Amino acid sequence: MIDHGRLQYNLSKRLFEEFTKDHPKVAEVICKVNTPALVMDLEGIKRRYLQIRYHFPGVNVYYAVKANDDVEVLKALASVGSGFEVASIEELRKVLDLGVSSEKVISSNPVKPEEFIDFASSQGVNRFAVDSHTEVDKIARIAPRSRVYVRISVPNEGSDWPLSRKFGVDLDTALDILEYSKEKGLVPVGITFHVGSQCNNLRNWFIAIKRSADLWERAKKKGIRLQVLNMGGGIPVRYIQEALRIEDVGYYISGLMKKYFPEVPYEIQIEPGRGVVGDQGILVARVIGKARRGEENWLYVDTGVFNGLAETLGGIRYPVYCEREGKIKEWVIGGVSCDSMDVIARNVYLPEPQVGDRIYFLSAGAYTSVYASNFNGFPRPQVIVV
Ligand SMILES: Cc1ncc(COP(=O)(O)O)c(C=O)c1O
Repeated sequence: MIDHGRLQYNLSKRLFEEFTKDHPKVAEVICKVNTPALVMDLEGIKRRYLQIRYHFPGVNVYYAVKANDDVEVLKALASVGSGFEVASIEELRKVLDLGVSSEKVISSNPVKPEEFIDFASSQGVNRFAVDSHTEVDKIARIAPRSRVYVRISVPNEGSDWPLSRKFGVDLDTALDILEYSKEKGLVPVGITFHVGSQCNNLRNWFIAIKRSADLWERAKKKGIRLQVLNMGGGIPVRYIQEALRIEDVGYYISGLMKKYFPEVPYEIQIEPGRGVVGDQGILVARVIGKARRGEENWLYVDTGVFNGLAETLGGIRYPVYCEREGKIKEWVIGGVSCDSMDVIARNVYLPEPQVGDRIYFLSAGAYTSVYASNFNGFPRPQVIVV
């Protein structure tokens, strides 16, 4: 009979060994850092950025700062020429303080606070996503003559972190918003979409690009010549489940662009967050307790869903590893706080760790430290860059 527990453990072990071999500097520190800690590999992040550029030829990359806003991470990306996608005054300040030009910054959150629009515009950032007439009114009033791109809704099926219900409009409304923004003195420059974060379904890009091409033509017929296609984020990374490879996503998208955009847009953009930093970081925690509850073995660690592992609530399953040998058991991993929602993962297979052992959560570089609070007085993971 297939031993699924053993298979899962062997996979996590292999991923851990590959990660530490490929990131020797990270391997050196994870065995000694104070926990909880998120250890990020800056060279790995730069490599990953360059890899994305290579597999998306002719596409400008604007790193989505929300995925990991550590200053050293941003500095590393700025040093290899990345652009940045920001949503808040704080994110924008961090990027500009590094000496990044405002021409390398865009803001794609379709609904923005007025103070942010005002601050961005005062700093020379004037490219904003919109998906409502209200947003157009706001931008026209606060930052006249800005360039705007409309967010269309696209399928998010097969994405572990769907976003499309919150934002995006149908093509008729999108066309109307583009026309309306022109009437209001803004410059309608393009179209954006987001296929959902951790997108493992190429069909989402297919529909999104086809819809964009359709809108592009319809806008042209109305006298609006668009220039920018922004393809948002969605590039997946490997968690416990297999993920699409960057080369396959890039190849597929360039095929779609050739087919549906024979006239190449003046600028094609992507704004990956997870795809840049997700698999370049490892979260190191420590076992603080164990218990047998009914049929379940519980393991408690010094981090949790409120201290960095919030995405586990939405279904992200990090490979989990500890360096013990012995019989594999099934575990439920509980977080450090008293809250009953604070359960990091179920059906995790590991040899029995002891209190004080280190537990590693792989591929934890994105949407962890940025999500962390110090709920219940427990610390956020310290971010260590090597
Ligand atoms: C507007 C926008 N752009 C880019 C991203 C980054 O997406 P991902 O982390 O999937 O690359 C997000 C994520 O929520 C987003 O909302």
